Amino acid sequence: MTRGSSARDASPRTILAFDHGRRNIGVAVGQSLTRTATPLATLRARDAVPEWAALARLVEGWQPQAMVVGLPLNMDGTEQDTTRLARRFRNELERRFGVPVHLVDERLSTREARERLARGGRAGADDDPVAAQVILEDWFSQNSRRELATPASRRGTIFEEEARILEHERFEAGQHRLRMQSPRIAGTALPGSFVHVRCDALLPMRRPMSILEAEREMGWVDLLFKEVGTGTRLLARKEVGARLSLLGPIGNHFEALPGSSRPLLLGGGVGMPPVVFLARYWRESHPQLSPLVLLGSEVPFPFTVCRASAGPQLPAGADTGMEALERLGVASRLASRAGLEGCYPGHVTDLARDWLRRLPPEARREVALYACGPVAMLEAAAALAEEYSLPAQVCLEEYMACAVGGCAGCAVRIHGPSGPAMRRVCVDGPVFDAHRVVWPRADASPS
Ligand SMILES: Cc1cc2nc3c(=O)[nH]c(=O)nc-3n(C[C@H](O)[C@H](O)[C@H](O)COP(=O)(O)OP(=O)(O)OC[C@H]3O[C@@H](n4cnc5c(N)ncnc54)[C@H](O)[C@@H]3O)c2cc1C
Ligand code: FES
Repeated sequence: MTRGSSARDASPRTILAFDHGRRNIGVAVGQSLTRTATPLATLRARDAVPEWAALARLVEGWQPQAMVVGLPLNMDGTEQDTTRLARRFRNELERRFGVPVHLVDERLSTREARERLARGGRAGADDDPVAAQVILEDWFSQNSRRELATPASRRGTIFEEEARILEHERFEAGQHRLRMQSPRIAGTALPGSFVHVRCDALLPMRRPMSILEAEREMGWVDLLFKEVGTGTRLLARKEVGARLSLLGPIGNHFEALPGSSRPLLLGGGVGMPPVVFLARYWRESHPQLSPLVLLGSEVPFPFTVCRASAGPQLPAGADTGMEALERLGVASRLASRAGLEGCYPGHVTDLARDWLRRLPPEARREVALYACGPVAMLEAAAALAEEYSLPAQVCLEEYMACAVGGCAGCAVRIHGPSGPAMRRVCVDGPVFDAHRVVWPRADASPS
């Protein structure tokens, strides 16, 4: 991203583009903040009329805020038969889906698509979606960033900041807490939102990290991460005073579910930060709620552990908690299968089930579940919510490239009113209704 550009304060918009033809229609998806486009699919058409049901599924899946259609013209700029057909297609798109549909001169897009495929060693491959990608890139280059930006009020605002490391705390098993001076991100971060971190100047791809805590007045955010690969190992070497580029806060956030005065917060491994942030945040903003935070880890916990306060009815053995939460008066308990002292010897979701089982039915009706962690844990949490008919939100993690909605690399399937639809974890999430997620195990089982 260019420094100083208006895109710093812009929020991403999703745009679908079409290379319209009589038999095939190439489709690409793009995003206004990075102004990048990705080939998506080829739809079949008969006499230039698309299979509208298939096209509607794509629109339902991507929910674009605008569309772009390539306008075929002769090389001298005059119109041809297919120009009229493309205009008709454009009008029909606008009528059916109610979003603005722009036309862009598509001369040479097919040639450019074929050249790109040949350069990538894929000569002869389907060029229609690549032509749609070229059309969308052309349209981006002809429109200013300001015009493409969604008003901040609609999507929230993403900032790029050169954040200075204020503290770097190291824990066992390659775990680290970084405190970063990042006032604009700290000013708008909410529990569940994340930052995209440039771990090192040598590494072009950023890495997503949840926000563990945000202090608005002091202008810092805390991140908690574990070394797993190149990016996090480079991050682990950074010392106090170093500066890192952060893009954020990205994504939506957890919300207090109405009528649920007993939030049950579950965090596993590097999924702990959003739920710890949530518990702290509610202490200030929703003091009437009495959350119980259950955290699970298979390595020593990356924070000070203390004897947990009396209160929630939990099995003997689960008698330690997170000191920082206990000091705030938030009840917490720890679970681990690694034999850690004072921890419940099992999965965090089993500890949660134990607590739910002990609650009187009228108290159970006031529980809502909020979880972040590995996908297997989240799937178990969603099953628990189903078993006890609890409203539930989960914060998902997916492999991410752009993290601002442009590459579709993080898409997951979420049930919508007309069936499962693709949603991007980075900008449509990362927090989703747990009952709407198409979980990998459920998805793999025969229908
Ligand atoms: C929204 C979001 C929030 C996240 N928050 C945190 C956090 O607070 N703390 C933290 O430690 N990690 C978090 N992660 C995961 C973190 O982004 C990855 O661990 C990191 O990108 C790995 O980068 P790497 O270069 O070190 O590893 P790579 O060399 O890229 O990969 C090394 C290993 O990490 C795994 N991995 C890579 N990317 C991801 C990913 N996106 N999700 C899950 N596993 C991955 C791979 O399976 C691989 O085994 C989050 C991921 C997302 C999507
Ligand atoms: S769309 Fe690129 S990571 Fe989400």
